Amino acid sequence: MRTVDEQGYHFEEWLTPAEIAKDVQQVADKISADYQDKEPLFVVVLNGAFVFAADLLRALKDVRCEVTFIRVSSYWGMSSTGRLEFIVPLQQVVDQRDVVIIEDIVDSGLTIHQLKAHLRGLGANSVRVATMLFKPAKLEYDDAKPDYIGHEISEEFVIGYGLDFDGFVRNLDAIYKVKE
Ligand code: IMP
Ligand code: MG
Repeated sequence: MRTVDEQGYHFEEWLTPAEIAKDVQQVADKISADYQDKEPLFVVVLNGAFVFAADLLRALKDVRCEVTFIRVSSYWGMSSTGRLEFIVPLQQVVDQRDVVIIEDIVDSGLTIHQLKAHLRGLGANSVRVATMLFKPAKLEYDDAKPDYIGHEISEEFVIGYGLDFDGFVRNLDAIYKVKE
């Protein structure tokens, strides 16, 4: 099993690239079925979701869509700060659009809770959430429950496949779990 040491913490491979690819295809198939006759606008939440988004969007079948990006930050080190900062705001008109937010991981749900309110306020027709990972035990905002989930995870901190540890290790091709 592959391992990574980062900032004094030991991580072990948890989802291999092949397992991730299966999860991504299953999410893509559901979205493809649900958005056949729509023209969704995908809003990728930077920085973490860029890897998942690149794979997910290319795995869609026959979905005419647009993609845009937003950059927010609510996290530093291993815990959430409880505040959301819009570092790069939305640059696309979302009025009347069927929006699908693409996230790397939903933890407390604060990011999604605030983002959904933001997009609805801008007139989105519908807002759904696709996330690679979901930590149901940590969810604090009911409306932040994702509609499309790659994989559920307990409360452990994970890195790789876009997920960072203070900005590093996003480029790992697998998802690694911290070991106490
Ligand atoms: P939330 O707003 O509490 O749901 O946190 C969501 C954000 O926190 C995600 O988009 C990630 O950037 C970050 N995050 C949450 N859990 C982890 C983790 O286990 N590893 C790395 N980043 C995480
Ligand atoms: Mg993130």
